[in-house]
Amino acid sequence: MGDQTPNVSPQSDPPDDGQIGRRRFLGYAWKGLAAGLAVEAGWTTYDILNPKPSAAFGGIVAAGSVGDYPDGTVRYFLDGRFYVASAAGALVALYQKCPHLGCRVPFCDSSGRFECPCHGSIYNTRGEYIQGPAPRGMDRFLIKVDADRVLVDTASVIEGPPRGVSSASNKAKGPSCITRPGTKASGSSSTTSPAGTQSPGTTP
Ligand code: FES
Repeated sequence: MGDQTPNVSPQSDPPDDGQIGRRRFLGYAWKGLAAGLAVEAGWTTYDILNPKPSAAFGGIVAAGSVGDYPDGTVRYFLDGRFYVASAAGALVALYQKCPHLGCRVPFCDSSGRFECPCHGSIYNTRGEYIQGPAPRGMDRFLIKVDADRVLVDTASVIEGPPRGVSSASNKAKGPSCITRPGTKASGSSSTTSPAGTQSPGTTP
């Protein structure tokens, strides 16, 4: 009788407890990483679809609620560099920069119109051209109403309407705030800037 080798199938040694622990740990780590990435991706998507308003020009600026704007209201947002006006049943966000040569255009409470003190361009409450050297109405921004909040997107400027467009009254309700070039304001020898208007100056 020859030697008989026992028929033992080759197999590796069973993993010890340390290997099992390491594998479990790595499994949990990968799952945790994947879950973290999924949450991050979801949050980023939410942020893109629901941008947070800021107060700064160049972003989306919160401009109060719809209830703040009964018809005829004009509110100025210094940091956003725009006005929100309510006229003819709609809101409009108007860029403060005059489309003529870039002066800041104040709203004149007494006349109820936007009046540029630099060269006398005048616009109605919807920023539509009335008179002066401006080539068009005031430029504007997109407005979005989100659950009663008024949001103004100042990231991109929308060119104002051409001369001749008029969807609100062009008539002054009272005295003008500016002296048009070549004329004198009654009772004054210089251009005036009464309370409730912004002083002139080139605007960014
Ligand atoms: S800059 Fe406004 S009219 Fe010239």
